[in-house]
Amino acid sequence: MKRACVIGWPIEHSRSPAIHGYWLKWYGIDGSYTKRAVRPEEIETFLGSLAAEGLAGCNVTIPHKEAAFRLATEREDSAAAVGAANTLWLDAEGRLCAANTDTYGYMAYLTLKAEDWRHRTAPISILGAGGAARAIVYGFLEAGVSEVRVFNRSTERAEALAAAFGPRVKVYSWDERSRASTEAAVLVNTTSVGLKGAGSLDMDFTDFHPDCIVSDIVYVPLETGLIRNARRHGLRTVDGLGMLLHQAVPGFEKWFGVRPEVTVELYNLIAADIEAA
Ligand code: ATR
Repeated sequence: MKRACVIGWPIEHSRSPAIHGYWLKWYGIDGSYTKRAVRPEEIETFLGSLAAEGLAGCNVTIPHKEAAFRLATEREDSAAAVGAANTLWLDAEGRLCAANTDTYGYMAYLTLKAEDWRHRTAPISILGAGGAARAIVYGFLEAGVSEVRVFNRSTERAEALAAAFGPRVKVYSWDERSRASTEAAVLVNTTSVGLKGAGSLDMDFTDFHPDCIVSDIVYVPLETGLIRNARRHGLRTVDGLGMLLHQAVPGFEKWFGVRPEVTVELYNLIAADIEAA
């Protein structure tokens, strides 16, 4: 039996077991995917014992993403670009390999929902400059966009991000987030504002280009204030749940040997779980 898990501290809230459990059943795979609470001081020991525990690998969530990246011996570019890993597996030689699949998850879902996002040669607007922002900025740069504008509450963090990614990334002040995004091809919220209904981004979409796509990586609630506001202005929107589902795909394939499909049924299953919570 093949085994994988998700590790974090705390870990109770994770929806990864429901996602991977759905696929294991769907593909009739003899495998398991569980949650493991791992304290910060236990991470190194835990990762060193994956093989002994019979684990093919694991997902990694807060607060272990940076440690996972550091402790891995093989790192995909996705993880190196972000400096953090959310997916680990052991290769044929038993080496610990790391990837950051948030980039894949975000770009795959955006392209699925709005495959024409790249038709306009307009800048991309990113709200936030944390780990999620880095993963998404990297995705757009890899896709070949000519300009990414980063708006963050604390400018120093946006400047650090821009310094890491080079001249295609431009730093704007937080207060300019509406004004300097009216021509954007895509606007993405990567901050935690709107999570569980807390706070509001106060975007003014009045003068936005009608083809702008507005997306939010927050998926609790499924329809955030940002998404609702953008819809009211007639803009196309991309929710955060799809990114969560798609970021799980590469890990499942590494551990269980099948590239799984994000079905409408899976989407509805996790959406119902979020709405019930
Ligand atoms: P993640 O790894 O999920 O990106 P993070 O690294 O903690 O999480 O980053 C959180 C992001 O949300 C940051 O960009 C943060 O802005 P600061 O860098 O200024 O802290 C942003 N954020 C959190 N609360 C915010 C708020 N109330 N208003 C604006 N931005 C906020």
